[in-house]
Amino acid sequence: MATSFTPSSTFTYTYQPVEPFTTIELIGLILRLFFIAPARILLHTTRCFLSALSRGIPPLLYLMCGYVRYALGELTPRQMQHLFPNSRRSYKRWVASRRYSASRSAAQVPTNAFVASRLAYDVEVLPQDTVGGDAAIMWVGDRRRATKIVLFLHGGGYILPCQPGHLDWCLRAYVKHPKVQELMRQGEDGEVAVAVLQYTLAPEAKYPGQLRQAAAALAHLLRSGWRAGDIVFGGDSAGGNLTVQLLGHLLHPHPAAERIVLPEGESIAGAFAVSPWVSVRTDWESFERNGWVDMLHGGMIQDITVHLLDGAMGYNVERSEGLGWAMALDMDEEAFGEWFGGLGRVVGGLYVTVGEQEILMDQGVEFAERVRKFNPGFPVRLDKSRNEAHDFIMLEAAVQKDGDAILRMRDWVGGVFWP
Ligand SMILES: *[C@@H]1O[C@H](CO)[C@@H](O)[C@H](O)[C@H]1NC(C)=O
Repeated sequence: MATSFTPSSTFTYTYQPVEPFTTIELIGLILRLFFIAPARILLHTTRCFLSALSRGIPPLLYLMCGYVRYALGELTPRQMQHLFPNSRRSYKRWVASRRYSASRSAAQVPTNAFVASRLAYDVEVLPQDTVGGDAAIMWVGDRRRATKIVLFLHGGGYILPCQPGHLDWCLRAYVKHPKVQELMRQGEDGEVAVAVLQYTLAPEAKYPGQLRQAAAALAHLLRSGWRAGDIVFGGDSAGGNLTVQLLGHLLHPHPAAERIVLPEGESIAGAFAVSPWVSVRTDWESFERNGWVDMLHGGMIQDITVHLLDGAMGYNVERSEGLGWAMALDMDEEAFGEWFGGLGRVVGGLYVTVGEQEILMDQGVEFAERVRKFNPGFPVRLDKSRNEAHDFIMLEAAVQKDGDAILRMRDWVGGVFWP
């Protein structure tokens, strides 16, 4: 199989700078928000809520589901990127607000004293010459004390910036992990810090722009002195897609991304993919089954795919040569086996979790099952959660709850970091 990838054009990756938002666009957006959005948001939230009720599922988070469904499905990437604060700004506000609330109750709640002392605005910009675009690591937790690191790849269809819910998830599931508290009480090391990657969004950066940035971030963490065996990486949705690309890159270095050579006999501790998006196909049965209740639907996936892949460098070459960095499930089974066989050489285990109410369920399950099939003995944990639709761990975190999805994530990561 050809692992030397030589596309016809040279591999100088370029980013398309975003044009500033014009007054006309702004007026259009304001009109939309005032006259169309309220009714549409009401429609989507009601629909998701009622669908959940009729399926006998606790419906509250489905209200949020409906709201996201409106934004992702009916606003353009430019509108969303104008409306939502960018990742860095969102992170800055989040740190300030979480620190403030934790320090106010620090005297009563010991874990809040811990949180207040570990959160600070800490951004490491990745070198422009290797990644291009706008890429940085935004730290959640104190990297100077941390012995365990999570490289976090946020989702949002590659078009939405990192949300506060992602950062709360990182805080709750990793930094505040009960095992960390236990080790601290015993006076032992073992703190976790999360390196949240701020990557360039589409359509400014297309595939494989984000892979370049993710690979640079991982290389940076290794160079900073953490051992591969103390690092876990993963993400949700499009972040799960990027996770799978990065796994492919570790096995078969992508020519446009920084090569990562793990020391002999060492591997990354684990990788996780929450509600991962691993196929361009929209004819999976779960699309039909859950298209009404989930925050995503087929049309949306098709649109996002265009923003990410239309004109993307090398993508068609990849497809025709059966190379799998971008493709994952869209390869036939045999090619998949060649591509992802031997995963155990680069990573210690894989965690895939999907909601039974989401359209991406079938592809997530199929991905986990194929990985199992071609990697006998390699630990793959697959959770199918009956009450969840897409990315519920993020919604749980957004409403400040240690829900089932957060607890399962803690359980998995605990087993990986402290076996
Ligand atoms: C990432 O998503 C794109 C768009 O759907 C898809 O073409 C690709 O196969 C996905 N990549 C991986 C590694 O799953």
